[in-house]
Amino acid sequence: MNALSLAFDTQRLAEKYEELSADRQFSHGKQLIEELRLRPGERVLDIGCGTGLLAEYVATIVGPTGWVTGIDPLPLRIEIAKRKSKPNLVYQVGNAYVLDEFAENSFDVVYLNAVFHWLAEKEEPLQHIRRVLVPGGRLGLTTGSKEHPNRLQRIRREVLSRPPYNAFPESRAGYPHWVSVPELVWLLDRNGFSIQKIEVQENVFNHSDSDTVIDFSQASSFGNFLGHLPPELRDSAIAEIKRALEEYRTPDGIRLEGRRILAVAVKK
Ligand SMILES: C[S@@+](CC[C@H](N)C(=O)[O-])C[C@H]1O[C@@H](n2cnc3c(N)ncnc32)[C@H](O)[C@@H]1O
Repeated sequence: MNALSLAFDTQRLAEKYEELSADRQFSHGKQLIEELRLRPGERVLDIGCGTGLLAEYVATIVGPTGWVTGIDPLPLRIEIAKRKSKPNLVYQVGNAYVLDEFAENSFDVVYLNAVFHWLAEKEEPLQHIRRVLVPGGRLGLTTGSKEHPNRLQRIRREVLSRPPYNAFPESRAGYPHWVSVPELVWLLDRNGFSIQKIEVQENVFNHSDSDTVIDFSQASSFGNFLGHLPPELRDSAIAEIKRALEEYRTPDGIRLEGRRILAVAVKK
């Protein structure tokens, strides 16, 4: 299968994501929330909420007079998220490309934490987001930086360029669609947002071992990490990637250095 698939997710990957994202995407997400300066009473939409950790945190900030809606296209992740539901916090299956059920001007804040790079086409979601935001409403996002692929991404690319894996070319739809800062500036401006902040941040994490790197990558990509390969080749590709990762072991674990972009913009 060449395209990014929502069908590769499993209960195990969803549970792994809940466990492993706690000190990764969740802690990055808290920085994004700080930048958005949320206030009690605000109405917030979390697009691509995953298993819902960040939305749960945001619900404590907006309090009982505000509310948070978390949407994600993966039903297994929404099932886990729903365990966190509260009177001011709902989770539902949903998609950045289909926000029709939300009324115009119905949110003060919309955010996407570690989600934007999964959207192959980015203008349509930005236009939907603009529609559901109130005038002056804020959009926040964090996303991988196209200009700074991390070590795992470079190793993966190198392994996949060799036989027998290179007989199965990855379509552009099959792996994240990172943006550069100039591309993001262009996208936001063109779709009716004025940028308040955009910066590239260090994204360094020491994974205890190469198994954890693979588990994290599979769970974060909902099974798309090597999803384009026939099943019989995935194990050998993983073994090659793990061998290459082990060469970078330090006393603190396997260090993966990358960068991410954080952006906050306002509906014009
Ligand atoms: C790395 S996870 C981030 C989850 C969560 N935002 C967090 O901070 O932990 C990426 C999420 O993007 C979601 N996603 C992928 N395509 C999407 C789309 N078209 N609309 C909304 N979410 C999408 C995935 O289902 C997945 O849960």
